[in-house]
Amino acid sequence: MLAAYAAEINPDDPLAGLVVGERPAPEPPEGWVLVDVRAAALNHHDVWSLRGVGLGGDKLPMILGCDAAGVDQDGNEVLVHSVISSPGWTGEQTLDPRRSLLSERHQGTLAEQVIVPAGNLVPKPAGLSFEEAACLPTAFLTAYKMLCVNGGPPGSTVLVQGVGGGVATAAIGIAAATGYRVWATSRDEGRRQRALELGADAVFAPGERLPERVDVVLETVGAATWSHSVSSLKPGGTLVIAGATSGDAPSKAELTRIFFHQLRVQGSTMGNREQLVAVTRLLEQTGLRPVIDRVIPLADAASGIAALAAGEVFGKVVLTP
Ligand SMILES: NC(=O)c1ccc[n+]([C@@H]2O[C@H](COP(=O)([O-])OP(=O)(O)OC[C@H]3O[C@@H](n4cnc5c(N)ncnc54)[C@H](OP(=O)(O)O)[C@@H]3O)[C@@H](O)[C@H]2O)c1
Repeated sequence: MLAAYAAEINPDDPLAGLVVGERPAPEPPEGWVLVDVRAAALNHHDVWSLRGVGLGGDKLPMILGCDAAGVDQDGNEVLVHSVISSPGWTGEQTLDPRRSLLSERHQGTLAEQVIVPAGNLVPKPAGLSFEEAACLPTAFLTAYKMLCVNGGPPGSTVLVQGVGGGVATAAIGIAAATGYRVWATSRDEGRRQRALELGADAVFAPGERLPERVDVVLETVGAATWSHSVSSLKPGGTLVIAGATSGDAPSKAELTRIFFHQLRVQGSTMGNREQLVAVTRLLEQTGLRPVIDRVIPLADAASGIAALAAGEVFGKVVLTP
């Protein structure tokens, strides 16, 4: 089958190790199921994998991709929950120290077929296309957990840093649809305008002083915006961090501000299956839909991953086998 896979790791030139070519069709072991992929969304995770972050050379070749929507062998339209628990784990899925995401230990979704544990399938809402549904398992699930589980209640003022990313566009959409006051930052004026169209109530340049301090900051940019995130919070506010695209070592850790203003710094990673089901319901109930930058054939995966690595994307890139 056709697949986009990491054949080599290259920290400086991630595209150098990417191959789009034939891989053996997967055969599900006991308890796992086969899904015919109809659409697979890209994430920054795919760029990190090609750079060797979270993917060891001993795992190669590894098909990339965390997200898929498709059809199981009984003909059901499904989403794939990407968090794979270790054998025997029964607690909260994202707290399993040996959990992995598809494409870390098990082959990923940028392929014509993927196998997952049977419990990782979630029914696809009928009102969403396969392309839209493929955007939910990583970006929307992560944004939902950051905001609705780890952030604060509706009515809170929330600042979303770096609007162009898949998680950030999802966060703005969910926050606007569910009653938060949404502020957002971007380096680019055009992206700031698009954030307003998505439902942001106000937009700012990175580092710009806000009219007032906020209850919650959603951070996925990392080093470039960390200091602004900390200084933008009200005393007792919550900084939820799920990523560090610009690096994970900010020049100022802002320790004094964090303890003096009694800020809560909350790490957040993906979400569990029930939370993914909740995301599907949220989209059905609100009519919210993912922002899709482009849909391209799986054969053109390299151009999509290159655009993501270059920061040229607004919303999600979706591949169709
Ligand atoms: N923990 C988890 O479960 C989880 C899940 C999903 C993603 N993540 C992580 O979260 C991060 C975001 O991923 P993503 O796929 O949504 O988007 P992304 O492609 O990494 O883009 C994030 C946004 O960050 C901003 N940005 C990037 N570099 C910047 C810089 N130097 N200065 C200021 N802003 C900068 C850009 O916004 P503007 O261009 O608008 O300024 C960009 O659109 C990634 O690092 C990813 O690995 C983690």
